[in-house]
Amino acid sequence: MSPKLWRKAGPGEPDVELFTSRADFDAALAQFAAPGRVAVVMTMGALHDGHASLIRAARARVGAKGLVTVTVFVNPLQFGAGEDLERYPRTLDADLEVAAAAGADIVFAPPVGEVYASGEPSVRMAAGPMGEGYEGASRPGHFDGVLTVVAKLLHLTRPDFAFFGEKDAQQLAVIRRMALDLDFPVEIVGAPTVREADGLALSSRNRYLSAPERSTALTLSRALFAGRDAGRQAAPEHSGPENPGSPGGLPLVASPEAVRTAARAALDEAAALEPPLALDYLALVDPSGFTEVADDHTGEAVLAVAAKVGTTRLIDNVRLWFGAA
Ligand code: PAF
Repeated sequence: MSPKLWRKAGPGEPDVELFTSRADFDAALAQFAAPGRVAVVMTMGALHDGHASLIRAARARVGAKGLVTVTVFVNPLQFGAGEDLERYPRTLDADLEVAAAAGADIVFAPPVGEVYASGEPSVRMAAGPMGEGYEGASRPGHFDGVLTVVAKLLHLTRPDFAFFGEKDAQQLAVIRRMALDLDFPVEIVGAPTVREADGLALSSRNRYLSAPERSTALTLSRALFAGRDAGRQAAPEHSGPENPGSPGGLPLVASPEAVRTAARAALDEAAALEPPLALDYLALVDPSGFTEVADDHTGEAVLAVAAKVGTTRLIDNVRLWFGAA
């Protein structure tokens, strides 16, 4: 039987179909093939507007007749000892609503035993040096766990496009690299970070913040914006996204030194707040290898920050473009 094209559910039918078993999900995929127009958005659930914007981007990319799968799976392999695996929010009913409203066709939410059907995998992906610094330094093995589950979910969902948030910049970089280095037949698409009106990047972990902690957490984005704007001031001739030298409208900056100094100053001030911001790292990296940029760097860079507020660890970043002097 030749595969049917995927069709959106008709009136009265559910907007999104939930599968928890690989066999049922696989049968649905086989039935509703949409050649060249299959997208996946991988998540650990607790869906918020940031995930919704990824799902909308996936829908826009594959069109109304394409297939958009959202995976919801809290992957134990990427949590270290003492991390928040147990307390990570599980909100499947609400996730289904968000996924449906944003235009997903399928939610695939398998239990651990379905994904790791033969137990904890003894053969895993290795992120290598790209996964050892920054997030990887405070979370050893984290990116190996991420890549292992992403590789598995790519095999299970067989997408043409896989969407990931730019907020997890190092994760996006290692996933891109895995797809490139190991010839995964998929286009990895990064989608912009979604922010609250005051600048706080949306994150499933924001729900752990008390009001005073949230106020301290705001200094993450403020520091990043300060760095970006200081870089711009250092090069007024390259000021602004309207400058044709900046692909994708990225803020065009000139001086890594000015960017780092301004961001660092804002973070230092935040260390004196109550509750304080406990900085883990501030980094200005080349996203292709996730290594610190040199002073004469040209092209894309990511200004990234990680810090703890209370017991909650938060990350954020902005993308920049260093124009030739
Ligand atoms: O970004 C996440 O939510 C997770 O790291 C991912 C990519 C779904 C893998 O578990």
